[in-house]
Amino acid sequence: MVYRIVKYPDPVLEVPAAPVVDFGPELSKLVHDMFDTMWASKGVGLAAPQIGLSMRIAVIDTSAGENPSERLVLINPEIIFRSGSQTGEEGCLSIPGFRENVTRPMITTVRAQNPKGETVEVTGEELLARAILHETDHLNGILFINYLSPLKRDLIKRKIRKMQKSGEWD
Ligand code: NI
Repeated sequence: MVYRIVKYPDPVLEVPAAPVVDFGPELSKLVHDMFDTMWASKGVGLAAPQIGLSMRIAVIDTSAGENPSERLVLINPEIIFRSGSQTGEEGCLSIPGFRENVTRPMITTVRAQNPKGETVEVTGEELLARAILHETDHLNGILFINYLSPLKRDLIKRKIRKMQKSGEWD
């Protein structure tokens, strides 16, 4: 099942999501559907608040569906290591059409649970680090536009308001 992606400024995107406590078959189904939704939108990451569910679940696939070994499920993730720095263009499926440079750590390690409830640790660099940090931010109610200068952020917000008025942003 492919979900509809929630767009900024929906409030669900800016509140911390609730921890997952139930690791049953419904969670596996939801994770599966989140991958389908992400691939359908050609994204490399998707967090549950982006489909309107305030739960601490994110999926990542930097191969965009090409390589099953690159599929990553992060449940209740916690960033436990950050190192270095990288600056590169970043976008978000909830803020479509806007891409801006964001500076983030070059390497990061995340501790999370998999759909079985087992603890996993994943270290990523470059694009994978960026995706892990971007998606974990989503679960804390933080969007990439929070890292932009107030001037750039306001410009984007104004453009979105304009599109909302003309019905180009639903
Ligand atoms: Ni995003």
